[in-house]
Parts: sequence; structure tokens; C-alpha cells
Amino acid sequence: MTKIKAAITGVGGYVPDYVLTNKELETMVETTDEWITTRTGIKERRILKGENKGVSVLGIEALKDLIRKTKIDPAEIDVIIFATVTADMTFPATANIVATAVGATNAFSFDMSAACSGFLYALSTGASFIESGRHKKVVVIGGDKMSAILDYTDRKTCIIFGDGAGCVLLEPTTENVGVIDSILKSDGTGETYLHMKAGGSRKPASHQTVDSREHFVYQEGAAVFKFAVTNMAEVSAELAEKNGLKASDIAWLVPHQANKRIIDATASRVGISDDKVMMNIERYGNTTAGTIPLLLWDYEKQLKKNDNLILAAFGGGFTWGAVYVKWAYNSNSH
Ligand SMILES: CC(C)(COP(=O)(O)OP(=O)(O)OC[C@H]1O[C@@H](n2cnc3c(N)ncnc32)[C@H](O)[C@@H]1OP(=O)(O)O)[C@@H](O)C(=O)NCCC(=O)NCCS
Repeated sequence: MTKIKAAITGVGGYVPDYVLTNKELETMVETTDEWITTRTGIKERRILKGENKGVSVLGIEALKDLIRKTKIDPAEIDVIIFATVTADMTFPATANIVATAVGATNAFSFDMSAACSGFLYALSTGASFIESGRHKKVVVIGGDKMSAILDYTDRKTCIIFGDGAGCVLLEPTTENVGVIDSILKSDGTGETYLHMKAGGSRKPASHQTVDSREHFVYQEGAAVFKFAVTNMAEVSAELAEKNGLKASDIAWLVPHQANKRIIDATASRVGISDDKVMMNIERYGNTTAGTIPLLLWDYEKQLKKNDNLILAAFGGGFTWGAVYVKWAYNSNSH
């Protein structure tokens, strides 16, 4: 029997209009455009403004973009997976809200929590639904409204993140394209360095947790940096080697956009030159689960059928991993 693979057959994306520049951050915390640019590569990030607007707004707009481009009927979607750490509410799942908003009336939908590796975890999970032969159209969304959980008095953390979401459509193919292989990992000892202290079941919200600013991202930047440099680079190289890919076989490295210095280290470990590394960190910062689908969205027009892509990420947990995707279409066919 021919093996079914999960092909990415469309990409959607959305970033909110408001641009928070390094210059504006200079008026909020003790920092400079020069410090942020040289330490991270970020110049600006997008922020979702307005009352009662959660990450679902970003996911809905991204999925509407995908539906418009691929011309699918939303009622045909079988599954929606939303990778995020900034769900609208603890429950119901944001994916449920998105599914109903776009008219995906026949889909089952759920959220996935793996921080900045969330999109890769969800992509691999979504691909398994397709490979099982039981589902024909799976939507994988990655997105976060990081501005909702950032302490804009903490200059070490607030400068890095932004808001945005992207998504892909997975469909079955018997061609040798799509999600080919993945290596995904996690290590719970990483909790110490990157977490949110309160608001979960271990430490529910109280006056005390609010007064002590415990509902924001807590990050020990240097420790996270060290972990990320080593692990994102290693897992990318391991996946390439496992699949017999030399640097010259790889059309694009698609790295999580956390820090340009981490991206450069990963590219250099895999032996890939800068012109083959997707990058938009300067415009969006780190949108957590949104970075990788937003890169695919930005670069879609440059992608050709059979291009080999290595998607790589690391994040809170710690979680990290890489996914090998063979691109399934020429963008001018959409
Ligand atoms: C956060 C990060 C940019 C900080 O850069 P760094 O080079 O490690 O800087 P450090 O935290 O060691 O701080 C160096 C100095 O800059 C200062 N500093 C920190 N943030 C600053 C800012 N926004 N503006 C100006 N100075 C700042 C620090 O206070 C420190 O000063 P000191 O030496 O007088 O104490 C970097 O650690 C990083 O990118 N880490 C990974 C984070 C990440 O990827 N998170 C997402 C996970 S998916």
C-alpha cells in the first residue's frame, strides 16, 4: 500500500496593525534601540490593541486568510489544532472559538501547549492525523498574544516578544512531499528558567500574585540563550543527518525567531548560508508559536515544489525540535 503523507497545501497569516518600535520601548523602559538591535536583531513588533481581544482574533484572521487563498469550504475541515500559550481563557480551548468563527462546523478542535515549539509539535501531530488515513483536511495554527503576559517594566523580557499568528493546511498525498520526518523533545527541568509563576492550578490568581507581578513571563535570559543555542542547532543537524541531507540539499532553514544570534548559530552548525535562512525577527520579534508559520507566510512566494525545508524551534518547557518538510507546491499555483 502507498504510504500517505501530509502535504502543506496552503499558508495563512495575520499580524495586528499596531507597530511597537524600539524607539517607543525607549520611552517605556531603560533601554536603547541600539542595545535591542545588537543583542536580538529586533527592530519592531506588532501588538494587538483593544478590549476583549484575545489570541483567537489572531488565529481567526490567519485562518480566514488561508481559507481565502486555498478556496476551501470551512465545513470540509476535519481538525483544527491551535498551538498557543496565551489562550483566550483557560477553557474552552481557543481552537473551539476559532473553528466556530470561521464556520468549521464539522471539525474537532483543541489547543496545544508547547510554548515556542508549539507549532512544530502541532504540525507533527496534525501530520499524524492525515497519515492515519482518517482525516483529509487538518489546519495547524500557531500564534500568541504575548503582549497579554508581558511585564512592560521588565526590560530584559518585554523587548523580545510580539503578537501574531500563522497557519497551514495539511492534506493527504501519495507523492514524496509534505511532512517527512521530525525529532521533538522536552525537558521539564527547564521550568526554572522560563515560566509564568501564577494563574495556573498550582498557584491560582490572588491579590498577592497580582501585587507581586506573577502573571507575566518570567525569564532568565542568559540560561535560556545557552540552552537554545546548543539544542536548536544540534537537533537541526541531527534531523538533516538522519535524512541524509547535506547543507546543499536544504533550500531553507526555517528557525524559530527568538534572537538573531541564536538563529545565526543554528545556521552555522547546519552549514547553511544566510541567504537560505528565513528571517523576519526584525519586524515581528518573537511571536512564540507564531514565528514559524509567519515565516512560511512571508516567504511562501519564494518556495518551490520539492524544496527541502528544516523547521527548527526551542522554547519554554524546555521544548525543542526540528521538522523536515518537502514543499508540495509552487506558490504561483495558488
Ligand atoms: C534576553 C537576552 C536578549 C539578554 O541578552 P544578554 O546578552 O543575555 O544580556 P544579559 O541578560 O546578560 O544582560 C546584560 C546586561 O544588559 C542589561 N540589559 C538587559 N536588558 C536590557 C535592555 N532591554 N536594554 C538595555 N540593557 C539591558 C542587563 O541588565 C545587563 O546589565 P548588567 O551587565 O549591568 O547587569 C538574551 O539573553 C536572550 O535572547 N536570551 C534568550 C531569550 C529567548 O530566546 N527567549 C525566548 C525563548 S523561546
